[in-house]
Amino acid sequence: MNPEARGGHLILIGFMGTGKTSVGIELAGLTGRELVDIDNEIVRRQGRSITSIFKIFGEDYFRELESDIITNMESLSAEPAVISTGGGVVLREKNRRELRRQGVVVLLTATPEEILKRTRGGERPLLDHPRPKERIKELLAQREELYRSTCHLEVDTGGKKQRKIAEEICSQLEQF
Ligand code: S3P
Repeated sequence: MNPEARGGHLILIGFMGTGKTSVGIELAGLTGRELVDIDNEIVRRQGRSITSIFKIFGEDYFRELESDIITNMESLSAEPAVISTGGGVVLREKNRRELRRQGVVVLLTATPEEILKRTRGGERPLLDHPRPKERIKELLAQREELYRSTCHLEVDTGGKKQRKIAEEICSQLEQF
């Protein structure tokens, strides 16, 4: 791993249901780093679920909370950590710049079919829609370029166990 990567955070980005949280847990175990989950941190600070934050205060308010954490990450972890983000973190230019500055950004990808399977029944206000697959495709199309321009590395998660994905990330980091 190069010195810059060793000094910074390992940051997982990607659409909902690409496994950022569960791969983050594996990655934290493999690297001996602490795991910081941005969504969990928002829920902890607000004392409400993501769904109720969206419902009561709206998406813009949620995005402010998200940006606030991304731009003040030192207060969460002084040591290089594994950071698992929410799928919409790339929507703001300020966040994209900040994430790249703070470490190595790894993009997790999956097909709309896999995303649908993995997110079904979960707490995702943006996918609470009569045609969730169409909604996933629409959001993916809007965000694809943002994910790609933010990441340093990319790993396809299709049909792979979390442990295998985490190992793949570690091996890509060796060559980074
Ligand atoms: C969102 C993704 C969610 C959560 C919120 C908004 C998004 O996180 O931050 O519901 O805009 O894609 P996950 O990607 O962990 O589901």
